[in-house]
Amino acid sequence: MDQQIISHLLEKHPWLPTTQILDCVDSTNTFAKELARQGAPAGTVVIADRQRAGRGRLGRSFLSPGGVGIYFSVVLRPNCPPQSLMHLTCAVGTAMCNAIERACGIRPGIKWTNDLVIGTKKLGGILTELNVNPTTKLVEYAIVGIGINCKQKEADFDESIRNMACSIEMSTGKQVDRNTLICEMVRSMYALNQNLLSDKSQIMASYRRDCITLGKHISVVRGTDIRHGIAQDIDEDGALIVAYENGSVEAVQSGEVSIRGLYGYV
Ligand code: BTN
Repeated sequence: MDQQIISHLLEKHPWLPTTQILDCVDSTNTFAKELARQGAPAGTVVIADRQRAGRGRLGRSFLSPGGVGIYFSVVLRPNCPPQSLMHLTCAVGTAMCNAIERACGIRPGIKWTNDLVIGTKKLGGILTELNVNPTTKLVEYAIVGIGINCKQKEADFDESIRNMACSIEMSTGKQVDRNTLICEMVRSMYALNQNLLSDKSQIMASYRRDCITLGKHISVVRGTDIRHGIAQDIDEDGALIVAYENGSVEAVQSGEVSIRGLYGYV
């Protein structure tokens, strides 16, 4: 990860002046949130080589060793009600598939809602956090965080996740240039910020194409309650439409549940 190369590749990009490359931070999301709280503009990007306390969805941690991954957060200020941003995580997912495809020549899939996968293994994840103004009820800022495993070898992953995790290099057999991928991520997030609210149906059509969960037998896990069904569709807000074995159909919102493939991780 090299500041000078990234500055050169992103020359004249509107977000270059607000992009920071750090060696190590607790969490780029937490860091970006603090900048947003202090008034940092939309397009403030924080990238770290390593995180001491990377965070995932549902209170999980996200392992973030140095030299091998990309830990990336960006501040957005969409100035709309939170209900209009239900598709944000999906939009980021499909935008990241575009970025990885352009930089590395492989298009990942997405395990609903926020896991980037190749084959049956997780390559990265997305954590979006919203701050709503209590008076206006509008989103003051959204922090979008993305973690991508780029250069790990199988042995680099802890034994407990080894059969579920992968990196881009493991999948392609080719070296990943993290500087190039970071620039494509910035470009994809810039484009997303331009069309997030205006191109919702196109974005969701692209997400449905990328989502590998559709059509699969899945289990919906809410605490100790586990229900089996088939993932039928994804609605315009990114909810997963699940047809259960008893014939009932439910729109499952992201965030409230964890989805498992019945036959392994995906
Ligand atoms: C998940 O898999 O549940 C989401 C993982 C999100 C990880 C990224 S890494 C950059 C940003 N900073 C964090 O602390 N988390 C996100």
